[in-house]
Amino acid sequence: MSERAHFVVVANRLPVDRVVADDGTVDWNTSPGGLVTALEPVMRREGGAWVGWHGAPDEEVQPFTHDGYAIVPVPLSSSEFEEYYEGFSNATLWPLFHDTVAFPEFHREWWDAYLIVNRRFAEAAAEVAAEGATVWVQDYQLQLVPRLLRELRPDLKIGFFLHIPFPPVELFLQLPWRRQILEGLLGADLVGFQVAGAASNFLRLVRLRTEHKVERHHVQVGDHVCRAKSYPISIDTEGFRELAESPAAIAEAEALLSDLGHPKVVLLGVDRLDYTKGLRQRIRAVGELFAEGRLDPAEVVFMQVATPSRERVEEYRRLRDDIDLLVGRINSEFGGVGRPPIVYRHAGFPRQTMAAMYRIADVALVTPLRDGMNLVAKEYVACHPGLDGALVLSEFAGAARELKQAYLVNPYDINGMKDVVMRAVEDPPEERRKRMRALQKQVGTHTIDAWADNFLGDLKHYAR
Ligand code: ADP
Ligand code: G6P
Repeated sequence: MSERAHFVVVANRLPVDRVVADDGTVDWNTSPGGLVTALEPVMRREGGAWVGWHGAPDEEVQPFTHDGYAIVPVPLSSSEFEEYYEGFSNATLWPLFHDTVAFPEFHREWWDAYLIVNRRFAEAAAEVAAEGATVWVQDYQLQLVPRLLRELRPDLKIGFFLHIPFPPVELFLQLPWRRQILEGLLGADLVGFQVAGAASNFLRLVRLRTEHKVERHHVQVGDHVCRAKSYPISIDTEGFRELAESPAAIAEAEALLSDLGHPKVVLLGVDRLDYTKGLRQRIRAVGELFAEGRLDPAEVVFMQVATPSRERVEEYRRLRDDIDLLVGRINSEFGGVGRPPIVYRHAGFPRQTMAAMYRIADVALVTPLRDGMNLVAKEYVACHPGLDGALVLSEFAGAARELKQAYLVNPYDINGMKDVVMRAVEDPPEERRKRMRALQKQVGTHTIDAWADNFLGDLKHYAR
């Protein structure tokens, strides 16, 4: 890469994944997850470079241009893929930072790999960033990069944003490498979190476990100041709205309804297949509503789509089997001879198809056990400008702090969740519209552009 960039995003994932088919042909797919959904429009707007892994181990790929910005691939060997990505990132940090809804594993070799790979990302960013550039490091996989990068390039403005929850102090303290992670993050000029509580957890830990002086949200770290604040992330609201209203999505929605046999009510779940998403509890709740006759399988369909995710990690494997079993059992017990009551697909779909699904859903079920934000909730709202539709939302999603007019649930309380789902289905249209109007207002004004402007504006201001 000859030209250096003034704006650099560093994330474990690139926006596109390299997929090699059995016959050796190479294709690039959109990468899964909310981080890519959120940052891709920011990058199209800002230009610059996105430094990240291209999704295939043991392959070196040369930088290239995509949608007007540079893609700078960082390679991972298969053992790094196992130890840094599947291991430390997704079997240690992911469950620990999500309230230990699954058991975190601690292995010293995984930490070693995390350190090596974080150093590689920092070096790649240092190489591509122009003098004085803004470098925005993303998420839990790269928490050591801010400090490593500052050591290499003290001229840079360094931001960090954590897309997932930051855990309560007592849980974070389990981590044998807690101090290194805190020091890693403190290398940034600005550390952003999804909710205010996460920023205060972080600052409390800095106070407890480091020698740096903390004053409100400022930390004096040697000769620079690191600030920690919340910046709730969002989506390209207008883009989703336009897509949902496009003739192609409308046609796709109609075809989908006809495939489903024009049910009276469509319930929808959209998730990566992840144990934090509360799928077991959600499917059980809906299954019981069918079993008790509160929902009639002849009139109601529950459509659940789940993108394959981290498939070789044990907990994800187990989850996949559990969901297959649960859905199969409910469908064989309560289905008629026609369409089953739960239509379940373990697959990712193009964005237009997602918009079509959101359009036809009378009720969206977004019920994670813990979630940093949850963009599906916001996408659903953006796709209902006509004010039809109802959002059932877990109290434990970051989004619940903003989307207060949703039908809020505690996903651990199956009976409570069943009652709220029924209310969302049966409430008079005026009540549903009133709630949706308030949600629309929120998602319409708090967009991804506003999020990026807030964070980058503060970073520019603080890092002078
Ligand atoms: P996470 O980042 O944990 O996956 P989010 O809800 O914040 O959770 O973001 C998920 C993103 O992935 C959304 O943009 C959503 O549209 C997309 N997505 C989820 N499931 C699917 C699917 N089956 N097919 C295509 N996109 C999906
Ligand atoms: C969440 C994380 C992202 C991650 C995405 C998909 O959104 O916050 O960092 O990229 O899930 O997960 P994956 O492991 O496939 O990158």
